[in-house]
Amino acid sequence: MTAPLEVEDLSFSYDSPLALKGISFTVRPGERVGLAGANGSGKSTLVWCILGLLRCGGSVRLFGEPPGGGVLARVGVVFQNPEDQLFLPSILDDVALPLINRETPRTAAHARARAMLAAVGLAGCEGRPAAALSLGQRKRAAIAAALIDAPALLLLDEPTAELDGRSVRQLKELLLGLDAAMLIASHDLSFLRDIALRAVVLGEGKILRDGPVGPVLGDSALLLDAGLI
Ligand SMILES: Nc1ncnc2c1ncn2[C@@H]1O[C@H](COP(=O)(O)OP(=O)(O)O)[C@@H](O)[C@H]1O
Ligand SMILES: [Mg+2]
Repeated sequence: MTAPLEVEDLSFSYDSPLALKGISFTVRPGERVGLAGANGSGKSTLVWCILGLLRCGGSVRLFGEPPGGGVLARVGVVFQNPEDQLFLPSILDDVALPLINRETPRTAAHARARAMLAAVGLAGCEGRPAAALSLGQRKRAAIAAALIDAPALLLLDEPTAELDGRSVRQLKELLLGLDAAMLIASHDLSFLRDIALRAVVLGEGKILRDGPVGPVLGDSALLLDAGLI
């Protein structure tokens, strides 16, 4: 089975020095991988590179294909900043958009979007624009939008950063119930320990460690070095 995500010798620079250097790793079907790293370590830049939104060196393959075109329909994304993906007059429209784009009838698309918004605790907010929601609520709407079309790969950038305890618990349950492969960029180590099978630790744009989540996120010297504790 083709790996949902293969990254090989990826490098990227906004200016100098390099923001990402020699990044190689694979996410296999159904695998949940935590991308742990301190602020500024390069997590969001890596997510943008994976999606082909930044031109980087090396190679990225999504389901065996370069990013862009049809393959992106199989990828659900939650950007760190929800404003990057919620822009329609209501979050119901934002969440239904991927279905509408695939020519799902409007009534059916809206029914599924309502159910997805309820699953992230936003029942009753469907008619509001993202601008009229709190940051945590916007993040949850972005999660609903990422999940609506049953993606086979999910890229989640700081999914818990603005969420309260209950929302984090609901998100954990939601994600653990999915078969999708996931790359979860976060410095929330407790969330990653609960959700990921593997952890890739980034430090100053390089992979410091890649391995099973327990031993990797249990290595205090590594976490200290990475600025995670
Ligand atoms: N638009 C930008 N222009 C220049 N440098 C940037 C830009 N965005 C991020 N950076 C720099 O790239 C590095 C990685 O940032 P980022 O990927 O946002 O890290 P993280 O998501 O891990 O916090 C940081 O040093 C950051 O300051
Ligand atoms: Mg970031």
